[in-house]
Amino acid sequence: MKKSTFTLLALAILLVMACKKESDSLPTPDPSEINAGGETTVFGTFSALFEQPAPNMSADETNLHALGDIGFEATFVTAPSEVNPGLGPFFNNTSCASCHGRNGRSPFPDDASDLGGLLIRISVPGAGPHGGPLSVPGYGGQLQQRAIYNTQPEAEVEFQWEELTKTLADGETVTLRKPIFTLKNGYDGNLPSNVMISPRIASQVIGLGLFEAISEADILSFVDENDVNGDGISGKANYVFDEKKQQMALGRFGWKASQPTLEQQSAAAFVEDMGVTSPLFPNENCVGNPACDGTADDPEISQETLHAATFYTQSLGVPARRNVDDTQVRKGKALFQKAGCDGCHRASFTTAQHPDGLAFLSNQKIYPYTDLLLHDMGEGLADNRPDYAANGQEWRTAPLWGIGLTPIINGHSNFLHDGRANSLLEAVLWHGGEAEKSRQVVEKMSKQDREALLVFLGSL
Ligand code: HEC
Ligand code: HEC
Repeated sequence: MKKSTFTLLALAILLVMACKKESDSLPTPDPSEINAGGETTVFGTFSALFEQPAPNMSADETNLHALGDIGFEATFVTAPSEVNPGLGPFFNNTSCASCHGRNGRSPFPDDASDLGGLLIRISVPGAGPHGGPLSVPGYGGQLQQRAIYNTQPEAEVEFQWEELTKTLADGETVTLRKPIFTLKNGYDGNLPSNVMISPRIASQVIGLGLFEAISEADILSFVDENDVNGDGISGKANYVFDEKKQQMALGRFGWKASQPTLEQQSAAAFVEDMGVTSPLFPNENCVGNPACDGTADDPEISQETLHAATFYTQSLGVPARRNVDDTQVRKGKALFQKAGCDGCHRASFTTAQHPDGLAFLSNQKIYPYTDLLLHDMGEGLADNRPDYAANGQEWRTAPLWGIGLTPIINGHSNFLHDGRANSLLEAVLWHGGEAEKSRQVVEKMSKQDREALLVFLGSL
């Protein structure tokens, strides 16, 4: 054999060994991971995928889901009306679906005259009843920038962008943008100057019934408030007021885990986002505002309608993982673990019995990529507005299941609590606080590794 042929052959063998070694060292895909929602998993990559009901429901449950679907889509109008009366007097939008389009997340608004699925929580320093946010006198805990005919909205909203350019270790630059919101023209001229504002974008609403079915003990097992294990990640539970039980309960829903159940989250959405009262929240959202009708036609929806709308968000299917065998995806998954992302974005849980006894949500092995706990995410993401136990820098770990489908479902790639990020990479580059180390690992990655990480996120 000629020397050069031999060298080539040796090189080829080494290369094959190296490749083999790399794919060998990658985690073997766990087939159960494809069924990200256990038996509630739905398959496909089409724009209506988040609107598919969990396939493992009984016929009665499937009917209730369909009824809830009608409630979720229903556009409310000013009373009196034959259909869906009760909108306002103050509101953010006119239907659940107008913000949670196709049950996905809303894009960041083009301009402040139409905020779409973005709403602004407000409060003044101090704590309200049960330790929650202290309402702004005359305005409440959420700003409604729209009102019914002949009524002045609470205030107007403006935003401006603050930009920041980051250079990653391999030379790639990324420009990050942060919206700075201001409120003006308060209806009574008395909008306090110390009002704290928290802009939040409408999130995807898939798989939420499964979150109700995770046992409290399982969630609390990841609490490490004093970082005893020294990984730089603490994790803290939010405790919020449960209106139905009239006691404090573990918060599970919303960007700061400030709602304990989907029924309360839904009833709060009806009254705060649309001005539609229900048996759980019978008072309009405008206590202290003289333009408020307050009493006339309350509650504007029945317990049955509230129950069906709640059930709808409990019973949506969870999209299956895609391309789990792909080498890039497997490599990205290994990098996700190596960067410590799973310290907060916990891959899996097994649900317990659902508290309302919904069997199709119980005992399911699921892959939501969240711990449902609060984490300090640093100053960059801070809203500086406390929400029960969550301080101004803390956010609930966002579940990552379904995130890779956002462009297909909603036609955009806006992520994070206020929708500021324009891509998954931007979302990661905003991570600070307890996630500082993870972010730095990503900033130092080679371009190939970063791509693999993003391909993995895209497969969720
Ligand atoms: C004005 C836009 C808007 C409307 C209308 C709206 N939502 Fe939402 N929704 C949001 C925002 C913003 C959040 C995040 C709230 C937070 O973090 O406090 C949210 C959160 C949720 C969540 C919790 C998601 C999670 O991951 O924890 C559920 C469930 C939900 N909404 C259901 C509904 C239902 C049911 C309706 C109709 C009755 C509705 N929403 C109407 C904007 C809206
Ligand atoms: C210390 C906990 C923590 C770690 C570590 C962490 N994250 Fe996050 N992640 C969060 C929280 C909390 C949010 C929500 C932040 C917000 O919206 O302001 C989030 C949001 C995200 C989002 C956007 C989700 C959405 O719905 O908009 C992506 C994508 C993401 N993380 C990916 C990653 C990746 C990749 C890593 C590792 C490089 C990582 N995260 C590490 C806590 C963490």
